[in-house]
Formats: sequence, structure tokens, C-alpha cells
Amino acid sequence: MATKNKAAWIREKHGKPLKVDTALPPAPGPSEVVIKNAVVAVNPVDWKIQDYGFLVEHYPTILGEDVAGIIQEVGSGVTRFRKGQRVIGNVHGLDNGNPAQGAFQLLTTAQETYVSPIPESLSFEHAAVLPSAISTASSALYSKANLSLPLPSLEPQPSGKTILVWGGASSVGSTAIQLAVASGVTVLATASKKNFAYVKSLGASKVFDYNEPDVVDQILRTLSTNNSSHFLGPVEQILGLMDGPEKDVDFVGVLDAISTDHTISCWKTILRRFDDSRAVVTLPVPEGLDRHFKVTSVEIHLLESRDADVRDAIWRDYVPGALAAGKLQAKPEPLVLKGGLDMIQTAMEKHKLGVSAQKVVVKF
Ligand SMILES: NC(=O)c1ccc[n+]([C@@H]2O[C@H](COP(=O)([O-])OP(=O)(O)OC[C@H]3O[C@@H](n4cnc5c(N)ncnc54)[C@H](OP(=O)(O)O)[C@@H]3O)[C@@H](O)[C@H]2O)c1
Repeated sequence: MATKNKAAWIREKHGKPLKVDTALPPAPGPSEVVIKNAVVAVNPVDWKIQDYGFLVEHYPTILGEDVAGIIQEVGSGVTRFRKGQRVIGNVHGLDNGNPAQGAFQLLTTAQETYVSPIPESLSFEHAAVLPSAISTASSALYSKANLSLPLPSLEPQPSGKTILVWGGASSVGSTAIQLAVASGVTVLATASKKNFAYVKSLGASKVFDYNEPDVVDQILRTLSTNNSSHFLGPVEQILGLMDGPEKDVDFVGVLDAISTDHTISCWKTILRRFDDSRAVVTLPVPEGLDRHFKVTSVEIHLLESRDADVRDAIWRDYVPGALAAGKLQAKPEPLVLKGGLDMIQTAMEKHKLGVSAQKVVVKF
């Protein structure tokens, strides 16, 4: 007998609230797994689709990109996973139009290339904050078309490179900081003052309050050649490790996880001072930019084609080991709502009201 499934459907453009109803039982293809969801996360794109009616062409469909749960079934060609394993998955129903690959259902079908085992010590509530942030940050940091950083490692070697993560307390920013540090890259970040300790705990060398009017000047001063000692801790400075010829900061560019008019105007001023640097935005590339600026947008669907090497280097080669070794923390903290499919609409509204260093997740 086929396994019963249920989903929180968006029935039509702007359909609100989501409607909980039966869904097709899963039938995984050769390279897919079926995950029995324990916890799913809400992303900004979910409520934006509902409010603005963009991106989805065919309704009804099932939203949601992030799941944590237990493998219930594996496709015929899958060798990395087995039934009963605890995993996270980033699912791509929004990109490929397949509702079976939406998170907001009891049983989600996932491409095994975006699934990772999780250690026993990591709760589903915490683990669910990671999947789409991993894909988004990976595309931004490692695609040759974006920041093209060295791949992360459990034993990173200093690369001499520096980036700025604008929005270090956001979900995308929190994972990006951790990955970039694992690439041996020095990370500067912006956040509200209350989140400075949190963003530093992710590995950022220095954090700037984006609410301060001179935030750009502060960042430029830190990036300037004569002030590169900012990157050293007090011990190294006392030991005089900055003696000797000064070196230019190799500033690769900005990952703008927020991408508002204000953040764009801030990094434009910074990029003007660093000819070879670039910006990667998480929303579409702003229109009317002067040709001087090298700016690209994260397009997760390209992890399936152009950037499949990045996808595998991160999801297959780095994330499982980094989670097991505690080198990739499941951050930001989950804001857990209980109630399963019936709670997802509320969770989307909750995220829309705004979060600070938190990710809204729903427990099934
Ligand atoms: N292209 C893609 O595939 C893709 C994928 C994922 C997300 N996105 C987009 O990326 C954006 C971020 O998503 P998310 O889920 O990571 O966001 P999020 O976690 O909901 O972002 C909340 C955080 O944003 C920070 N923030 C707000 N305004 C800021 C500003 N002006 N400067 C610096 N930080 C600011 C806040 O920091 P404080 O609390 O410190 O104030 C807060 O912690 C969204 O627009 C989303 O739609 C795109």
C-alpha cells in the first residue's frame, strides 16, 4: 500500500492561508531520497511568493526549501544514504516546478546531491536552519562567476584573502561567514550591535554596526593598507607580528546577504576603492549600475548545471564531515513553532514580521 502523504498547499497565486490537504505519495527517482520530515524551516522567499505572486508558474504547489528528518526511502541509484538515517536536505521544487520537492509536506522527495547526514548530537530543530543557507552561501562564495574563494577545509590554511559579509546575523550570512573562515579567508561582517558577539562566534574577525552613519568609513579604514593590523588579535599585535613590509589587503569583495538600496549604496562606495573586488547579491542585480562595478546575483539553480562542482564539493565533500566535527554550526538559533503543517502559515507570517539572528522552523 502506498504511503500516505499530506502537504500545506498554496492553491493559487497569492493563495492565503496555505491549505493542508492530501498529497501524492512519494515515488523517488534513481538519484532521489524520500525524507520523513521532522522539522522544516521557513525562508523569506516563501512568504514573498505568497505576497507578490512571483517565481511560481503552476499552481497548486508546495513551498519550502529546507527539511530535516529521517530517510524513508532511497532511489535505485543512491548509494550514500540508507533508510533510517538522520539528514538535512535542500529541496528545489521552486526551481524545477515539482511539488514533490517542496518542504511543506510530511514526506519530501530530495535530490541526494543536496542531502547530508547529521550527527546524533544535532537536533532536527537546529539542523533545519542550514540547508538553503548552505546552497546560497556556497554559490555566492565558490562559484567562479561569484567570489570564487578557495574551497573550505576542516584544516583551513590562511589564503590571505578578505571578504565582507553584509548581514552577518542573517541566515545566509551566518553560514557564509563559517564557510569563508573554513576557506582560510578573513571575514569582516555587518550586524546590529546586539549581534556582534554572535557574529564573532561564527568566525568574523571584525563586525561593524550597519546602523551607524559612518559604517562605510569604518570598513574602509579597516581595509586600508595602513590599518591591516585590525585583522590581528591583541596578542599578535603585542608580539609585533605586523613588523616588516606592509602588504595590501587582498579584498575579494562583498557578499551582500541583504541587498537593499542602503546596503547597495554602501558596498558601491567600498568597491570604488578596490578595483578588482566584486559584489554578490542575494536578490536580482540592481538595475542601472555603472559598468565599473562587477556584480552578480546568487542563482541557486545553477548549482545544478554550471556550478555542480561547487555543489558536490560542499554538500558531499565538506558538510557531512564539518557537521560531524562541529566545524559547521547550525546557526542562527531556531525559533521553534510546534504544530506541523497547520503551523506553517503562522511561521511564514512570523518570519515576515522580521527576525534577528534566528530562523523560524516548524516541528512536525
Ligand atoms: N538568491 C537566492 O537563492 C536566495 C537564497 C536565500 C535567501 N535569499 C534572500 O537573501 C535575503 C536574506 O535571507 P535570510 O533568510 O538570510 O534573511 P534573514 O535571516 O531573515 O535576515 C534577518 C537578518 O538580516 C539582518 N539585516 C537586516 N537588515 C540589514 C542591513 N541593512 N544590514 C545588515 N544586516 C541586516 C538582521 O541583522 P540584525 O539582527 O543584526 O539587525 C537580521 O538578523 C532575503 O532577501 C532572501 O530572500 C536569496
